[in-house]
Amino acid sequence: MWLTKPIIRPGQFHSKAPLANRDSVTLRGPNWNDLDDLIEYINGLVREGAQITKTELVTREAEAEWLGERLSEIENGQVIMLVAEVDGKVVSVGEVGLLTGERRHTGYLGIGVVKNKRRLGLGKLMMNALLGLARKAGLKIVILDVYATNAIAMRLYEEVGFKEAGRIPKGILRSGHLIDLVRMTTEL
Ligand SMILES: CC(C)(COP(=O)(O)OP(=O)(O)OC[C@H]1O[C@@H](n2cnc3c(N)ncnc32)[C@H](O)[C@@H]1OP(=O)(O)O)[C@@H](O)C(=O)NCCC(=O)NCCS
Repeated sequence: MWLTKPIIRPGQFHSKAPLANRDSVTLRGPNWNDLDDLIEYINGLVREGAQITKTELVTREAEAEWLGERLSEIENGQVIMLVAEVDGKVVSVGEVGLLTGERRHTGYLGIGVVKNKRRLGLGKLMMNALLGLARKAGLKIVILDVYATNAIAMRLYEEVGFKEAGRIPKGILRSGHLIDLVRMTTEL
């Protein structure tokens, strides 16, 4: 169910923590000033061929439209969003979209970390922060979809409590290859 007020507002501080390489990371709500970093982030994932459904580079115009929509959804309590910042740069983005009607107890999670800040515990930090906010928002379950070939992401999700609930055989068509799409869930 959409929230009557956002659990974390655009730009609002969430927490600060050290990564495994001693980088200091700040988690906060995203804001307009993040636009260029967000373009670099999503296009970095597309360029490396990350296992996400997006395969085309985004333009500045498209990303500005996307960010504008996300910021108003945050204000409207439709999505919970966090970015992680290291040395003034966005290095991770995560969100939990809130479903409605008879699925109003459910959130849909997505997350990514820039390539040069992986394996430092940032993914886990973001996951735990997002799940904590989802719990605070009153959600009861969080679900996500992951490519069956994305062992790294699946391991991270299992470490924070997700279990496979089922899969769509051949749900993904990637460069001519069919890959199962796995749905994972956790109870809060
Ligand atoms: C999946 C992703 C978010 C993980 O982020 P991360 O910051 O590297 O994750 P962490 O450093 O917190 O690692 C968490 C756990 O994931 C696993 N993991 C992370 N990187 C791994 C690697 N290269 N090999 C094996 N396991 C790995 C480990 O189990 C790790 O726990 P541990 O270090 O305590 O053993 C990141 O790899 C990513 O953004 N990938 C590209 C986009 C993507 O796939 N998003 C998910 C789509 S569903």
